[in-house]
Amino acid sequence: MRAAVLHGIGKILLEERPRPEPGPREVLVRVASVGTCGSDVHYYEHGRIGDFVVESPLVLGHEASGTVVVSGPGVGRELVGQRVSVEPGTPDFTCRQCRAGRYNLCPRMRFFGTPPIDGAFCEYVVVREEFAYPVPGSLSDDAAALIEPLSVGVWACRKARVEPGARVLVTGAGPVGLLCMQTALAFGATDVLVTDVNPVRLRVARDLGASETLDVRENPLSDAGFEPDVLLECSGQPSAIGQAIRAVERAGRVVLVGMGGDEIPLPLAHVQTRELEVTGTFRYAGTWPAAIALAAAGRVQLDALVTGHYGLAEVEQALTAGARDPELVKAVVRPQE
Ligand SMILES: NC(=O)c1ccc[n+]([C@@H]2O[C@H](COP(=O)([O-])OP(=O)(O)OC[C@H]3O[C@@H](n4cnc5c(N)ncnc54)[C@H](O)[C@@H]3O)[C@@H](O)[C@H]2O)c1
Ligand SMILES: [Zn+2]
Repeated sequence: MRAAVLHGIGKILLEERPRPEPGPREVLVRVASVGTCGSDVHYYEHGRIGDFVVESPLVLGHEASGTVVVSGPGVGRELVGQRVSVEPGTPDFTCRQCRAGRYNLCPRMRFFGTPPIDGAFCEYVVVREEFAYPVPGSLSDDAAALIEPLSVGVWACRKARVEPGARVLVTGAGPVGLLCMQTALAFGATDVLVTDVNPVRLRVARDLGASETLDVRENPLSDAGFEPDVLLECSGQPSAIGQAIRAVERAGRVVLVGMGGDEIPLPLAHVQTRELEVTGTFRYAGTWPAAIALAAAGRVQLDALVTGHYGLAEVEQALTAGARDPELVKAVVRPQE
């Protein structure tokens, strides 16, 4: 099969590799669509994210969909021929976190496109059968791939306990913020204010249902008079985080989705006197069924985020498109084209 392989900073080569074979309880998926994510761009540009360092050739890409073509031994369901959305991280299923249902926190997680585990910018991937989720015909291949970032939004809204009638502030209108916003609306939030510094992305947010948008370069959040019950922080910008926390209503929930710096100033008195709950999120656990249902019901728009398609020979263009084009939201790689 063909695979786009990262060979050091800024260097991706198209290679022939043996097609992987599904082991026990695994299926082989012919990859149809793979979304590009900020983390793929980061590994391509810097060769590392925190403690995860690219030390040997690596296939990036973790937002994948495709069709099951082979079932390994012991696969319980008839999956061959099914179109599926791929959940890209396999935990060990046995550690304390896994047994408590928090498998996203498994210290032995093997996650696509995270060194040293290869991802999906290639023609075929092997997946645990439970992590290949059949999708209805109404979902496009791209939408089935974007169930992955949608899952980040579903997990964030669950952690934030977004309720019907909730007022929600989403800081950052990148793909993750746009999906957190849509999920919050689908969970019943009625007032969702989205902030960014990019007017194109704020327009997309309005098109996708944001109640209000704010360009924080022009108007400070503190002047907006918006006191949300929930903050979904999706910019990862330290400067945005403190401002946003200061806006949150008493007993509100703050979910830090964006990954910015290791240490940021926290408006502690505000957190204490208002009894805010502050939590981080790391990926998701058990979100695929809900995310697929929301997308299939049309409650969340996924295809609307896709702003460009690239072949396997064009993965570098896909990963650098954002730097060239401020209108870009989500570039998608189609390995079979
Ligand atoms: N917690 C997790 O499991 C998880 C999963 C996926 C992504 N992430 C993180 O979520 C964040 C968002 O991901 P993305 O793919 O949407 O990234 P992105 O870079 O496309 O989006 C970030 C957005 O924030 C905007 N922004 C910059 N400064 C701002 C400010 N002061 N106020 C408001 N907005 C501002 C940017 O213009 C951009 O549109 C990233 O930090 C990413 O690492 C976390
Ligand atoms: Zn585990």
